Amino acid sequence: MTYKTQVGIIGAGPAGLLLSLLLHRQGIESVILEVQSRDAIEGTIKAGVLEHPTVELLKELGVGERMMKEGFEHHGIELAFGGKRHRIDLHELTGGKSIMVYPQHEVIKDLVGAVLANGTTIEFGVTEVSLHDVDGTQPTIRYKKDGAAGEVRCDFIGGCDGFHGPSRQAIPAAKRVEHLKVYPCGWFGILCEAPPSSDELIYAQSDRGFVLVSTRTPTIQRMYFQCDPTDNVNNWSEERIWAEFRARMANDDGWTLQEGPIFQKGIIAMRSFICETMQHGRLFLAGDSAHIVPPTGAKGLNLAAGDVVLLSKAIAGFYRHNAQAALDSYSTRAVQRVWRGEHFSWFMTSMLHDFEGEDTITRRFRRAQLDYVVNSRAAATSLAENYVGLPFEDMYA
Ligand code: FAD
Ligand code: DHB
Repeated sequence: MTYKTQVGIIGAGPAGLLLSLLLHRQGIESVILEVQSRDAIEGTIKAGVLEHPTVELLKELGVGERMMKEGFEHHGIELAFGGKRHRIDLHELTGGKSIMVYPQHEVIKDLVGAVLANGTTIEFGVTEVSLHDVDGTQPTIRYKKDGAAGEVRCDFIGGCDGFHGPSRQAIPAAKRVEHLKVYPCGWFGILCEAPPSSDELIYAQSDRGFVLVSTRTPTIQRMYFQCDPTDNVNNWSEERIWAEFRARMANDDGWTLQEGPIFQKGIIAMRSFICETMQHGRLFLAGDSAHIVPPTGAKGLNLAAGDVVLLSKAIAGFYRHNAQAALDSYSTRAVQRVWRGEHFSWFMTSMLHDFEGEDTITRRFRRAQLDYVVNSRAAATSLAENYVGLPFEDMYA
């Protein structure tokens, strides 16, 4: 199959699907190539928290209806340490903003439905995706599907293929500066059948390591604990997992975690990664293909959304007024917001995780920072405005 379109998009994750919807709204056509099946992308358990600007974007694009009905709006989060829980009132500290707990795979279902309803093609299950002539005016994406060769000829390529996709590699190595920090820990994530333990998410620091208590529905809970990134989920029986959660969540408030049968387990690596530049010729990276954050700040999907808002406007400007400046400055502008999100994710990770072999000064700094955040309105406000999400553009346009 050969397609001729305006924007060829590689990857049907949040970045690729949102880019297609944003472009369609501006009357710009796209075709999306995705290596996985529709069932696979709609079933993979990933993120849970949507920032305020992402929620507004989904509503504005007309894909927020189910999220508003089935998602859970949270006005605060809790930080637990030293045996006590402390509430950060996001809503009050940010002039009325909040976050939405709504799983990424549900967002994906809503986005895929809307993209297909626009009449946009998503080719699922493609293989051997490669990028050609990205520094010319007619770049091409080649791929195979069911053994047959296919091609997308386009004006621009949206490289939205996640951390392991081919798009970033299509930028010449000499033009790329890649910043990488690997954390010496991972997150062990579970889904279990239990009622919620708390009305709001709990980020807990303990001498045994970090715990995040999140939720999905009134009967399904999502929780994580800091683990050795090289560990194997099979080393952890249900009893061992709950014993670890109990030990880390020990408190003076008489509060206990609600436990129940665990039906999903997985280990996630923790990295900070930024590729500068995010563009080369007619190829533009967006989302995890250009940057990765450790999950502690709940920023990954939200940074992807910020990228494609900028990118879609730049592409629309090109078609409408033949404007080149916003395209040329895409990477510089996008990466500025990305660095803010990267720093916040590192800050949350450093404040809440314990790393083996640390000196006592570093440990006490962590506690001093936690004490500061829960006792100073200025410090709490800074955390809150980052957590609910900084504006997509105003600050960084
Ligand atoms: P992806 O979601 O990775 O999508 C890329 C797509 O490209 C995939 O569908 C992939 O199959 C496809 N692809 C790859 N290679 C090719 C190829 N060669 N050809 C075609 N297609 C290809 N973020 C938050 O904002 N909030 C959270 O609470 C949060 N929690 C998280 C919890 C966990 C456990 C994990 C793992 C992540 C979490 N994140 C969170 C991060 C978030 O999930 C990612 O940042 C987000 O998925 C990035 O979207 P993307 O579209 O850039 O990339
Ligand atoms: C979830 C994931 C996160 O990374 C986070 O910071 C908060 C919640 C979640 O999956 O629910």
